[in-house]
Parts: sequence; C-alpha cells; structure tokens
Amino acid sequence: QHEGTEEARAPVVTVMGHVDHGKTSLLDYIRKSHVASGEAGGITQHIGAYHVETDHGMISFLDTPGHAAFTAMRARGAKSTDIVILVVAADDGVMPQTEEAVNHARAAEVPLIVAINKMDKEGADPDRVKNELSAKDVIPEDWGGDVQFIPVSALTGDGVSELLDAVLLQSEMLELTAPRDVPAQGIVIESRLDKGRGSVASLLVQSGTLRQGDIVLAGLQYGRVRAMLDENGQPIKEAGPSIPVEILGLDGTPDAGDQFAAVENERQARELADFRQEKTRDTKLARQQA
Ligand code: GTP
Ligand code: NA
Ligand code: MG
Repeated sequence: QHEGTEEARAPVVTVMGHVDHGKTSLLDYIRKSHVASGEAGGITQHIGAYHVETDHGMISFLDTPGHAAFTAMRARGAKSTDIVILVVAADDGVMPQTEEAVNHARAAEVPLIVAINKMDKEGADPDRVKNELSAKDVIPEDWGGDVQFIPVSALTGDGVSELLDAVLLQSEMLELTAPRDVPAQGIVIESRLDKGRGSVASLLVQSGTLRQGDIVLAGLQYGRVRAMLDENGQPIKEAGPSIPVEILGLDGTPDAGDQFAAVENERQARELADFRQEKTRDTKLARQQA
C-alpha cells in the first residue's frame, strides 16, 4: 500500500432533502456566486459535482446524482461525503425524504448542517423546522444541541455565505486529511456513454493525485485517462484529494459508488478487471441457480 504524507484537504459536501425543497437551486446559487470570473461564460458541463473557492477555503459539492452515489457507497460500506447539508423548505417543514436523509447521514456517521431554505417566502416558519427536527433528535445549537441550523434563501442568496461558513467550521472540527503524493483513489460519482467521446466518468478523487495518462481501474472497467476535465469542461492535467473530475478513456461505464484506483500498468488493470468481471458473472450465475 502507498502511505504518503497526510495533508489537509477540502470537505466534500452532499446536499440532501425532500423533493422541491431547493437542493439544486441552492447548489446553483453557490456555484454562480463563486465561479471565477475567467470561467464565466464557459460552457458548464454537468458532472454531478463541483468545487468552489470561498473566502475561507475550498469546498467540494456533490450534486443530486451524488445522492445516488452516497446511497450506493453506503450500501458498500464506503464513504463519499464528509458533511451533509440537509435542505428543508421553511414553508413546508420536515417531510419523508427529510427524515430519510437524516437516517442516511446518521447511519454513515456524517455530521449534518441544516439549511432552512425558502426563507423569502410568505409562510416561512423556521421554528417549525427546528421543532420537527428536534423531535428526530436533530437539535439546533441555540436549543442546546450540536447541529448548526442556517436560514437561507436560494432565490435571493440570503444566508448562503453563513451556510458556507458553517460548512467550513464543521470541516475544521473534522480535521480532514489525505495523502497527495500517491497514486489516486476515490469513487465514481456517475458515468455515461457519450456518442463522440465514448465512456465519460465523473470521479471524486479522495486521496492521492490523478493525472492524465494514468491507468485507472474503476469498478469492472479500466483504461488510460485520455483526457481529464474540470467541472467547467476545461482540460486539466491533474487533480488532488477532494477534487471532482471527468475522465475519458475507460472501456465502459462503471456504476455510481464504485471505487476507482490508479494502478501500475495496463496488464494489472486488465487482470483485475477480468477477475472482477468473472466474479460478478459467477455471482449472477449462482444466484440464478439458487
Ligand atoms: P428535486 O431535485 O426535484 O428534489 O428538487 P430540489 O430540492 O432540487 O428543488 P429545486 O431547486 O428544483 O427547487 C424547487 C422549486 O422551489 C423551484 O421552483 C425553485 O425555484 C423553488 N425554490 C428553491 N429555493 C427557493 C427559495 O429559497 N425561495 C423560493 N421562493 N423558491 C425557491
Ligand atoms: Na425540483
Ligand atoms: Mg434538484
């Protein structure tokens, strides 16, 4: 195994919550308000993840497809996220998927920050959200608990910088580190087949550094990283811990939540991929025969 020196890394945040409570709107607002000016006007790729530079440090966000990866990862006992932002609409309160998200975060032992969204709306009732979540043992700091509740509006942007501060405060307490000078490892956020470009996979690097030209094994697929793009579709040569990237060059489409790792050479990658594919076939066969 590669050891490497541990270095501080940015937090990886997943946004969860009930349908239509404003997860995507919140992510869009954060992204728009933190895009470096040089990138404005560039075509935004959808890679299911992005990172932003705030006044106080970097944060990586997993978008809604990240939710699927989070669930898939959890089922496999791995961890895709450091902090969950739970979005609850102030005019709607706690709903079934809010509770589901609380349970996910709890089972994965990931700390929560509650964003009480839609504060601009008539009928916004943040105390109701606090009451309903307290009943689920998610207790606000100002009520003697240990969870930060931040009122926000994804529409006006009110409270969003306080929310980012809350994320960075929580992140400091977690003292997140990863080695940088080792071959990359991480998870697949999502992947697809593109007509022109072939397999396109969004990866989150969790440790080490991924470089163009690396040979990567991802789930049952492998290949040489032919090109690597950031979330704005700009070509990049390398990506360190907590950075999401899109890669071209795999020989298929790995599943959300699959692990990936850069390996020594193509032969090793092929052997491991063949071995895993055979094992998967055997398992399927055994299941059919049972
Ligand atoms: P799903 O991905 O479908 O679960 O929804 P979501 O949680 O991503 O919600 P989305 O961002 O799509 O927002 C749902 C609706 O609420 C949209 O019409 C948004 O414009 C609106 N909305 C989101 N945030 C706010 C807010 O802070 N204030 C107001 N007034 N409307 C909001
Ligand atoms: Na929606
Ligand atoms: Mg959405």
